[in-house]
Amino acid sequence: MANRNLYALILGVSSGFGKECAIELAKMGYSIYGVHLDIGSNKAKAEEFRQQLESMGVKAKFFNANAADDNKRKEIINQITEDFKTEDNPTLRVLLHSLAFGAIKPFFAKDPDDMVSKKQVEMTMDVMANSLLYWVQDMFNAKLLAENSRIFGMTSIGSTRAMQNYGSISAAKAALEAYIRQIAVELAPYKITANAIHAGLTDTPAAKKIPGFDSMLKSALKHNPFRRNTVPSDVAMAVSMLVDEKFYWITGDVIHVDGGESILNFIEDV
Ligand SMILES: NC(=O)c1ccc[n+]([C@@H]2O[C@H](COP(=O)([O-])OP(=O)(O)OC[C@H]3O[C@@H](n4cnc5c(N)ncnc54)[C@H](O)[C@@H]3O)[C@@H](O)[C@H]2O)c1
Repeated sequence: MANRNLYALILGVSSGFGKECAIELAKMGYSIYGVHLDIGSNKAKAEEFRQQLESMGVKAKFFNANAADDNKRKEIINQITEDFKTEDNPTLRVLLHSLAFGAIKPFFAKDPDDMVSKKQVEMTMDVMANSLLYWVQDMFNAKLLAENSRIFGMTSIGSTRAMQNYGSISAAKAALEAYIRQIAVELAPYKITANAIHAGLTDTPAAKKIPGFDSMLKSALKHNPFRRNTVPSDVAMAVSMLVDEKFYWITGDVIHVDGGESILNFIEDV
């Protein structure tokens, strides 16, 4: 194999699954481009994390920006393209879409002001689903994706199940899985794969914002065949395995990384 300068682009790099995947890929020698959206102390923590990655001997460049903003996306892709001109045989091997930014509101309420609005639904769909397609299209056009590039999107139980206040995120997850399938089919001739990773319920800042999430976590813990909840490093382990060139036959799939949680009916208990 040619000596490659391997890179990963992680959307949602500063927390949860994105952060753990960045650590695991950096351990494997990947340099990391990261996008996150943080303010205040979280912004400072993201910078500390970037430095932590660099202390592991890889390059790490972060952009604190809305990944659903067309101009920002184009700027970031241009920046990567420019950086790559000075690199020796660079390969953007991994795109991980791990953005959590959705409206947690019911579709119906006595007071219409309490219902999710059109703007909120569109924002949720844009950040958590549509942006995946636009990043992949722009990266493809910029010739950043290459043979054996791996695309991952994070999905959840919401893609097939209804949960209180989760309707717009559920819709985004179903759309994300559809995008993944279509991308997998259309990019297979280029030997690029795309998979959705369905993580089990995991204690992260975004998940904590979902009303009733603590009782869902407790129920998942009680029923999980391994008697523990999913942690972000479980997903990082799966990603670090799937980036291997020999796993290119796995594509267009929804891969459950949840210790068997999704084959149980625990959600009824909540
Ligand atoms: N936590 C769970 O139980 C769980 C389970 C299955 C799937 N998921 C999915 O995993 C993904 C990541 O969630 P998490 O739990 O790791 O969340 P998290 O809150 O730990 O991390 C979210 C990351 O996304 C970034 N972000 C949010 N909105 C952004 C935007 N508009 N532009 C750029 N960056 C943005 C944040 O800065 C942060 O880095 C989400 O798609 C979520 O739905 C979560």
